[in-house]
Amino acid sequence: MKRIGVLTSGGDAPGMNAAIRAVVRQGIALGMEVYGIRRGYEGLLDGDIEELKSHSVGDILQRGGTILRTARSKRFHEEEWIDHAAKMCQTFGIEGVVVIGGEGSFKGGYELSKRGITVMGVPGTIDNDLGYTDFSIGFDTAANTILGLITNIRDTSSSHERTTIIEVMGRHCGDLALYTGLSGGADVILVPEVPVDINEVCRKVLKGQRSGKAHSLILMAEGVDMDSAELAKILEDMTAREARTVVPGYIQRGGSPSEKDRRLASLTAAKAVRLLYDDTPSRAVGVQEGEVVSVDLGEAILMKREFKKSMYELAEVLA
Ligand code: F6P
Repeated sequence: MKRIGVLTSGGDAPGMNAAIRAVVRQGIALGMEVYGIRRGYEGLLDGDIEELKSHSVGDILQRGGTILRTARSKRFHEEEWIDHAAKMCQTFGIEGVVVIGGEGSFKGGYELSKRGITVMGVPGTIDNDLGYTDFSIGFDTAANTILGLITNIRDTSSSHERTTIIEVMGRHCGDLALYTGLSGGADVILVPEVPVDINEVCRKVLKGQRSGKAHSLILMAEGVDMDSAELAKILEDMTAREARTVVPGYIQRGGSPSEKDRRLASLTAAKAVRLLYDDTPSRAVGVQEGEVVSVDLGEAILMKREFKKSMYELAEVLA
């Protein structure tokens, strides 16, 4: 393969720039031409495409966000637009595309691959919701951002002897809440994978109060089937302790990527390029038990993420 494209799609994630850099520099090292596609599939449809040289990706390794910009393309859900995207690739002579993004972006990539364009998926989403890989680029940085917030919130929460609910991102996957709940010492962790039992939540908070805990901390994923403000109200009524809600929102998506995310981005993106160079059919690159792996793209998007039940249970024991 002589000419490849790279795009970032869906929610941005810290480390996407490190992945773009790796695609460009690994591609050039293999004698390929690398084209940057702006605003994800939107830019592909519009032909917003430009060749990237080694210097184009200088000084971006440490930057959050994505220099290629990103978008959630509505048009790309329609057959005729996907056909148009494949034609755009042909017009630009692009034979393979590295798609850096999450579940939705991979599904789009799979559709493109059915039209003769080889697509390599590189996992980039703070939600960590892709089933075939243990970690996605951006998750570690976001988790550390949340951990910093928990540390700050603990000060005020304990001073006022309150219950504080921190609602973190994660529409379908509770990993951000689960990992930071364990590492941040939450009393209760609420994730989309486990139905909310409000009596159980109250029981845990009351148990903490009775055992002398100055305050209670609840880590809740946004995808949980309950409103965090509503939960705070119920807890105030049932536990006789003030409750507050904190929603950090997009703060979780920004910031300089952690070492782990930069490394994951560099390794997976470079691997994706080598697969294209070898003319391998479309795959998704990820990491399993510390090793860089790749799986068939079609299979990757069907793989459901396994919920870490033992981690969830341990967090309950340690709370
Ligand atoms: O990046 C994933 C995610 O952060 C989700 O957790 C969240 O629901 C969504 O993106 C929101 O993104 P946007 O508002 O940019 O579409």
